[in-house]
Amino acid sequence: MSTMLHLLPTDAYTSQEWFDREMREIFSKTWIYAGFMEDVGEPGQYISVQAGLNNIFIVMGRDRRLRAFHNICRHRGTQLIRAVGKTQKALTCPYHDWTYDLEGNLISVPEEHEEFGKVDKSCHGLKRASVDIWKSMIFIHPDADADPITDWFAPAEDQIGPHVPEELVEYEELNTSYEIKANWKIVVENYIDVYHLSHLHSGTLAMYDHKSAKYGFVGDHYMFWEPPEASFAKYQDKKLIAPRVIPEDQNGAWVPMLWPGIGIGATEDGWNIFIVEPLGPALTRVTNRGRVANASNWEFAKQEMKSSNFWTKFGLSGKYEAHDAQSEDDPMAGGDFTAEDIYACERQQASLKSPYFETGPAAKGESPVIEHQKVVLRWLGEA
Ligand code: FES
Ligand SMILES: [Fe+2]
Repeated sequence: MSTMLHLLPTDAYTSQEWFDREMREIFSKTWIYAGFMEDVGEPGQYISVQAGLNNIFIVMGRDRRLRAFHNICRHRGTQLIRAVGKTQKALTCPYHDWTYDLEGNLISVPEEHEEFGKVDKSCHGLKRASVDIWKSMIFIHPDADADPITDWFAPAEDQIGPHVPEELVEYEELNTSYEIKANWKIVVENYIDVYHLSHLHSGTLAMYDHKSAKYGFVGDHYMFWEPPEASFAKYQDKKLIAPRVIPEDQNGAWVPMLWPGIGIGATEDGWNIFIVEPLGPALTRVTNRGRVANASNWEFAKQEMKSSNFWTKFGLSGKYEAHDAQSEDDPMAGGDFTAEDIYACERQQASLKSPYFETGPAAKGESPVIEHQKVVLRWLGEA
């Protein structure tokens, strides 16, 4: 019996067995983020994504409709396509050249007559999965008959901010993807831990009023909102780094974490996603992409100039001042809250296998961590 991290055994964060169970019972049975609408914008364009045990690809047909298929050749199962790409008309398996059209029908079998006599092509089409769009993001579900995604996110819809991502444009400099040496639940728990905001991020997230945050779960989805801190709220339009994207009477930061591992971070001047993808028991990939106002470069430059005075005075600083820092690129000194989070997650993961590991009491602001663990247990059929 391993020790507990609140409601879950530490094994849940370190063992391959738990990881496999979660892949099977959670990530294979729900909607998984696959990309943005722009990523599959032309007929023949495709992307593939891992959803638990399933590798699924989305392709746009000649009718400009998106379709999702299991990336498994119906001959001997080889994956048909790799990561991302574009094809003209058809998808050919690299192994024996069985070929499918963009609607998933098997259309050609090499040496069919000599090798097989006859193959009934109509029973060997690609297996369908579901694809749906929500807030300009493409989601896939391994089950071809999954309920619509709007049903799945409906309970969260009115609490995740007034942003309309469809009207914003992607800001490519915000696109990052990195691996964290920690279990995916450690990464999620860090995201929804309200207690750490004014401690780990004392120098980097001080422009929001964490004491006034409102948060809690709606079904399996976590909701979070907090208002700007007084000095940031005053004449806020002079302080935003980029042009405003929401009405002034709805200021604040919305930072929900939708199940499983679909984070959004939305403020007065931007809308970002934070996708948590489990790669192994102690390895997680995070993908960030962001959208900003559909405004001219000039408007961005003007806004940045206006705000620079505030940010110079207000300052962003790392938790540990220069004299404590280990080196120049110390994640705890750079003034970047993401680097601080990665550091905390990896340092926590590093302790989990110690026989001396033991958790203390959970703060009020850590109640989302406990709630998230309950959701995990429910999906695994243990609660
Ligand atoms: S496995 Fe795909 S053609 Fe043989
Ligand atoms: Fe954080």
